[in-house]
Amino acid sequence: MIHLIPESFIEDLKSAIPIDSVIAPYVALKRAGRNSKGLCPFHSEKTPSFTVYSDNGSYYCFGCGKGGDAITFIREVENLDYVGAIRFLAGKAGLTVPETPGEENASRKRARILEINREAARFYHDCLNSDIGKNAREYLARRGLGRKTIKRFGLGYAPPGWDSLRGHLRGKGFTYEEMHIAAVVSKSTKYENSCFDMFRDRIMFPIIDLRGGVIGFGGRLMDGTGPKYLNSPDTPVFKKSRNLFALNFAKSQQSDLLILGEGYMDVIAMHQAGFGNSAATLGTSLTEEQARLMARYFRRVVIAYDSDSAGQNAAKRAINILGQNDVSVSVLEMEGAKDPDEYIKKFGAQRFGLLVGGSKSAMSFELDKLKMRFDLDDPEDKVRFLNAFCLMMADVESGIMRDVYIGQITKELEVTKDRISAAVQSLRKKKQNAVNKRETHNLAVFAQDKTEPSRKRPENPNIGGYLAEENLIALLSAHPDFYSEIADKLKARDFFDEGHRQIYKALSGRIAESLPLDPIHFSAQLTPGQMSRYSHILAKGREIRFERGQATEYCRIIIDQKDVRNSREVGEMPAEEFSRYITSLSSKKK
Ligand code: GTP
Ligand code: MN
Repeated sequence: MIHLIPESFIEDLKSAIPIDSVIAPYVALKRAGRNSKGLCPFHSEKTPSFTVYSDNGSYYCFGCGKGGDAITFIREVENLDYVGAIRFLAGKAGLTVPETPGEENASRKRARILEINREAARFYHDCLNSDIGKNAREYLARRGLGRKTIKRFGLGYAPPGWDSLRGHLRGKGFTYEEMHIAAVVSKSTKYENSCFDMFRDRIMFPIIDLRGGVIGFGGRLMDGTGPKYLNSPDTPVFKKSRNLFALNFAKSQQSDLLILGEGYMDVIAMHQAGFGNSAATLGTSLTEEQARLMARYFRRVVIAYDSDSAGQNAAKRAINILGQNDVSVSVLEMEGAKDPDEYIKKFGAQRFGLLVGGSKSAMSFELDKLKMRFDLDDPEDKVRFLNAFCLMMADVESGIMRDVYIGQITKELEVTKDRISAAVQSLRKKKQNAVNKRETHNLAVFAQDKTEPSRKRPENPNIGGYLAEENLIALLSAHPDFYSEIADKLKARDFFDEGHRQIYKALSGRIAESLPLDPIHFSAQLTPGQMSRYSHILAKGREIRFERGQATEYCRIIIDQKDVRNSREVGEMPAEEFSRYITSLSSKKK
């Protein structure tokens, strides 16, 4: 069904009335960690299992399996259709539902802008590597950036001319109007119908969103002849307040801690020094949307803003905003340097690592506690302590931090460092093997759920395939950039479950067009029942940390299942066989 409500209006609605305020009149909600909970309005219960997720604007009841977004909720409680629910919400928000859509071409337009941006980024990058980029290359080298870093971030150089990029894009078939909408050219105020390159003689930093699309640029002057940075303004594909620089990289790190910096250079320096779990706001102060975005991927945020008073004030603001999202926040105090970039240059990555893990204090504290439990003058106790210490170190993700602490302790206790390091390595290997088995856990997370009646298992399903479908949908919702891996391999029709098929169709379509992925945008395409399924998958997906390789793995399972579809009834599988089956799925990997 096509509804003529423009996408942009749904966006407005979403920011005007957060999900909590939509639900609050019907359900007494209590905060529970990063979510809130209440008694489900759709079935009768005594203990709350109705959960509201403010970070993505969805709800899900673990008791009866109803779920969805704000629109679905109003459809259900007020018994309205899709458009009716939107009118209802618009009324509450004081917004008027636009009569004419005029947006049929909007997604086509977005796609063109993304193409322009990608082409521009490529152009800038090529310029950096050609003769014209000599100065810029030297500048980046002076600032300590290596070739690998430059390539990874796709850094570039905008030549000084007024029409270099313009000419290049023209040659690729883009119109000036399109370039202007993408904001890579500016319109001349003097001459009508004339435009010129927006970024000239600048180092270019492409800003990449979570889907891997180039959505905008930051451009830095190499000398002091004007404002240091010029950033893309908001465009149909770029909202500064909703994105973070380098979050595309940071979110895929196996870390629950994010280092939040202020500037492009700081983040790039941190990544280069081994702190891939860092990102930055885009030259504006932190917004609530950015905070929610971070909370989706990280439990802890360490703020690494400039140490000047402006930076410290901004940090205070950021703490408040982040605090509302139930992430634990701390602030880095960088004595002797003005920002992370400078700190790393001056004192090295090791010391920065110590500073971060808060680590300096938190880790030393833990270590002191551990020491107290043993009599280190007693040889046997010393061994026991070292065993415990190795276990503790095996959990430390940063190699630098491990190195520092192992160095410190082995020196203190006068034992051979190599031996302890080897012990820690082998423990980590074991741990890694356990991580590899996580597939089993992921499938199990979805499998464990028995309460939900709306989760009607299909008539003749293959359980592994069914779970893989759920996992894949959860994975893509959290990591839309992984879609590129499977886009050609998997089609909606490969899904066995009809609900999943529809969800995947909507999800993959939106990812391909770089449209926002909040659940509220799905309710135009999905029925309330399918929205419940989708919310269920999203809620379960929160318990899982996905890795890139899993996208292809689930994809493979889904395709394989097509052959074994007629195998057996899931409900008939005894629990043991069921879990064996799940295990077999994950061990098939190799
Ligand atoms: P370097 O000075 O090259 O080390 O860059 P930086 O990334 O450390 O930048 P800095 O800490 O000075 O500023 C933080 C962020 O604020 C930058 O990354 C920009 O996004 C933004 N910013 C800084 N200067 C300007 C400016 O002159 N104009 C605009 N619009 N934004 C700026
Ligand atoms: Mn700096």
